[in-house]
Amino acid sequence: MDKCSQARAARAPVLSATRNLMKNVIVFKALPADQIERIRAEHHVVLVDPKIALEDFHRALPEAHGLIGASYPLTAELLAKASRLEVVSSASVGVDNYDLAELHRRSILLCHTPGVLDETVADTVFGLLVATSRRFVEMSNLVREGKWPQEFGDDLLGVDVHGRTLGMIGFGRIGQAIARRAALGFRMNVLYHTRHAVDLDNDAPELAGKETHAVLHELLAKSDFVVGMLSLTDATRGMMGTDFFGAMKPGAIFINGGRGATVCEDALLSALSSGRLRAAGLDVFAKEPLGLESPLRTHARVTPLPHIGSATIETRRAMAVLATNNLLQALSGVRPATCYDTANV
Ligand code: DGY
Repeated sequence: MDKCSQARAARAPVLSATRNLMKNVIVFKALPADQIERIRAEHHVVLVDPKIALEDFHRALPEAHGLIGASYPLTAELLAKASRLEVVSSASVGVDNYDLAELHRRSILLCHTPGVLDETVADTVFGLLVATSRRFVEMSNLVREGKWPQEFGDDLLGVDVHGRTLGMIGFGRIGQAIARRAALGFRMNVLYHTRHAVDLDNDAPELAGKETHAVLHELLAKSDFVVGMLSLTDATRGMMGTDFFGAMKPGAIFINGGRGATVCEDALLSALSSGRLRAAGLDVFAKEPLGLESPLRTHARVTPLPHIGSATIETRRAMAVLATNNLLQALSGVRPATCYDTANV
């Protein structure tokens, strides 16, 4: 046997062993091409977006060992079709699209992408706060429509952001990144409401001493801006409703960058219509995409965004890379560092 044939023969068992280890992966939301290639180098890949080709998705599920994607609900019913499933790798930090109890019951790993999107989501939410209070979208539309105002009467003025009081509902990594922008950049007073006071000395030392842990009614009564950054759980669903908005300072502004269903949208609309709230800036909605029939879409004092919290080129790529790393690790039998604890329902 010549040298090349010997080398080929030596490699052959390794190649076939590798082939035997190949698993089936469904990519259910677009990923960058190079990340798909990384998965393809180790596994069989099926690209199928259930929003476009639901039947194909259903057909692929029984063979799938791994799923990677985002923004599509994986219900217990769908998961039941995927009897070989080992891992769901979500290119998102939020995990409310997945049936956590079912994943836990079947010991299917759920990985997500915390950490890589904190600053970008904080930029979006703080930008939305400024845009809403200074009425950027409304003013920009006047210019576009050729209606540059002759005079700026009170009816066209916004309100200041700097130096005022921000109340954070939810104070995880993203909430703290928003608070940092408010306290250090805009000299705002920061109140936050969580079950227990957060120890910032290690995680966000630059914010320590610049925030105050407050009970909910005190935060709502004192804050000029209330920002919701809650993940969606049974405990937070509909948490911001009539009592919540009724307890807010008259004329305050509400911003939501967490999950839409943590807000009772009818209660928010009533608080806007009654004049209790000055305005709202919303990046998230109970139903997405926001239906054409929703009054929030066209309300004069609502600034709606199409859930773009993490939507920058850099951050969406970082999320895709982390989700791909997680998938590949999990399929090779290694537990990724950013697995979600599905027991924590
Ligand atoms: C997430 O990752 O859950 C965010 O909502 C994306 O913007």
